[in-house]
Amino acid sequence: MSKPAILVARAVAPEAIDRLRPHFELETNPDDAIWSREELIAKLQGKVGAFTSGGERIDAALLAQCPELKICANMSVGYNNFDIDAMTAAGVQATNAPDVLTETTADMAFTLLMATARRVSEAEAYLRAGLWKKMSFDMLLGSDIHGATLGILGMGRIGQAIARRGAHGFGMNVIYHNRSQLDAATEATVKARYVSKQDLFKQADHVVLVVPYSPASHHTVAAAEIALMKPTATIVNIGRGGLIDEDALAAALAANKILGAGLDVFEGEPKINPGLLALKNVVLTPHIGSASGPTRKAMATLAADNLIGYLINGKAVTPLNSPKPR
Ligand code: DGY
Repeated sequence: MSKPAILVARAVAPEAIDRLRPHFELETNPDDAIWSREELIAKLQGKVGAFTSGGERIDAALLAQCPELKICANMSVGYNNFDIDAMTAAGVQATNAPDVLTETTADMAFTLLMATARRVSEAEAYLRAGLWKKMSFDMLLGSDIHGATLGILGMGRIGQAIARRGAHGFGMNVIYHNRSQLDAATEATVKARYVSKQDLFKQADHVVLVVPYSPASHHTVAAAEIALMKPTATIVNIGRGGLIDEDALAAALAANKILGAGLDVFEGEPKINPGLLALKNVVLTPHIGSASGPTRKAMATLAADNLIGYLINGKAVTPLNSPKPR
């Protein structure tokens, strides 16, 4: 009997391919080409499963053209590329890759926070340009991290891992805002205090965004929120680019209304808002929040296990919906 056919939409860790191969006929993308939507739909013909990266839009229109598709397994915790309602209605299982990237992504939030607060990119550019001629008392002054107030917007698993680092590692006063308040025991463990969104922006010395992106959280940080921030404050985004109004942020940074921003995600990525590129007081990284070798391998392995779990053993490992199978 022939094996079920799977599409692996992007190049992934070889361990994931090795895991899938005994169970499925695979069409892979070793060159890591970015397929158009039409190409993706053409390649999905005859496939029962798709290993997706988080960049492929899976919606009702695509599903209508891919009648054999039963599951899409994202190799990312974020799943804003999935229309979950459409997938459920079409009988298609959606899965993501949570937990395995929590600590690595929290590390990256702190990397950006520290680089931004201490102006590391700007300092390195200054040195490399040969501008450093002498020590001076006010050269490249930044903001402190230890003992400062850390404001976390979005307090899921990654937010909590960032809070632990801030409170326990740097003696920070951690405040957070979330759709729902954590229970008292979890708040005590991560040493974080719930505040309103407005108070978070007013009080925080460093703001970190880890809100899941959806139409409801689009531009959750815009000119009004930035205007509440202290002139010495920084903001880091490791969620999704669409959480921030980038034009408003660039304008505030250009006018030195806040100290700086650290951005790993962008609204039109991989295109970057030219207003941001022109600035010194922003640290820019290309969506590498989860990019450590072991974590990327674990994310790919989990996506593979979701495909095997659902299509071979009848149960996904980390399901996002409960569809009536096609
Ligand atoms: C995620 O898993 O959502 C990260 O942003 C990597 O895409």
